[in-house]
Formats: sequence, structure tokens, C-alpha cells
Amino acid sequence: MEVETLKRLALMGANKEQVSLSSSIFATSLGMSPQTAARRLSALEEDGYITRVVTPEGQKVRITEKGITCLKSEYRDYCSIFEDGGAPVMRGKVVTGLGEGQYYISLDGYRNQFNDKLGFDPYPGTLNVRLTEPFIPAEHEAVVIAGFKGENRTFGGCKCYPVRIKGVRAAIIRPDRTSYPPNLIEIIAPIKLRESLGLRDGDEVEVTLE
Ligand code: CDP
Repeated sequence: MEVETLKRLALMGANKEQVSLSSSIFATSLGMSPQTAARRLSALEEDGYITRVVTPEGQKVRITEKGITCLKSEYRDYCSIFEDGGAPVMRGKVVTGLGEGQYYISLDGYRNQFNDKLGFDPYPGTLNVRLTEPFIPAEHEAVVIAGFKGENRTFGGCKCYPVRIKGVRAAIIRPDRTSYPPNLIEIIAPIKLRESLGLRDGDEVEVTLE
């Protein structure tokens, strides 16, 4: 993954809006040939980190949510290198949920978005954790998962927040409409966390925001 190119685009504002890009100026700012810069941009587009529209003057580029997640993760890495602690840590206990996670997470309408925007294919289910403090995320940290129409019903949108749990990449998932108290969180991950981390109800876990 070409994180340096992505970072340069963010510094030009492409994390907030579509920005016009002149290929040659962009290449110079990265200290590379226009051909190399063009190759990096198309690789980023192919992997879903940016979207591009080609115009007669050049191109317009915007970083996708997957790209932002990648930059944030890089940022957290630097935080932990240069600061004590770095990313905010939340603590809680593993609890059993309503057994509905499995159904929802497996739906293609959600699953494809998890793949595209979080960069992993989730294990079908959610690990529920009751935190000691309410989880009140910053709006800008949310990865937005859109709702969609099924055959006879609609499925609501939700927001995801990339986290790590014992080093494993995961995400807190919070439906837009939920009756859950803010200290109860649901976590999705590419693997079955109970199995891989040997977790049981009542076990204490640390959830680190990316
Ligand atoms: O019954 P509950 O709502 O807690 O769970 P579920 O969403 O139907 O998920 C099935 C089981 O897998 C539960 O025991 C979850 O805690 C667990 N799980 C896990 O260990 N790791 C994940 N990434 C997702 C779910």
C-alpha cells in the first residue's frame, strides 16, 4: 500500500473533498517521475483507497473511507512511537448478545461495505463488550456503512470505528438506530475472537481505538 502518496493527497485536502490534481505538480511534490506518480495513483484507485474522475484539465481525486482508515492507522502507529500510550484505550467485559449479529453481518449488503471500507471480511457475528465507560465516538472517526433495501424490508445504516483488541484489527459497529446503552459495544473482526483469543463471558478486554 502506498501510504506516502495517500498522505500527500490528504495534505492537499483530498481527505475532505474532491481535489483537482495536475499530475506533473503532484509528481514533483512526491519527488518522483510523472509515470511513477500515475502508477501509484492507479494502484490506490484499484485497491479502493481513492476515487478518481478524469477531466480535460487533469483529474479530481478524493480519498475514500478505506483510505482514511488506513491513514488513521498509520497515525496511531506514530502516536505509539512518539507518545506514551498513544491511542485511547477502553476497558470492559465480554458478554453474550442477542444472537442477531450473525445474521446481519453475513448480509452481502453490509458485508461488501465492510470489505471495501474496513478492509476485512468479518467473521459472521459480533463480540459484545460491556465497557466501564460509555463509548462516545468523535463523529469524524466514523466509517459510514449505508443502509440498503432487501427483498421485503430495508436494512438500516450503521457506523464503524476501527479498533484493535489484543492486537487484532477489528471495528466497533453501532447501528444508527439502536436501543443499546452507550457502554455496550459490538465488535466485528476478520476472525472469531472468542476462539482465537480464548475469550469467555466475564473476561476483561482492552479495546484500543485506531
Ligand atoms: O449471541 P451473540 O449476539 O453474542 O453473538 P453473535 O453475534 O451471533 O456471534 C456468535 C458468537 O461469535 C458469539 O459468541 C460472539 O461473541 C462470537 N464472535 C467472536 O468471537 N468474534 C467475532 N469476530 C464475532 C463474534
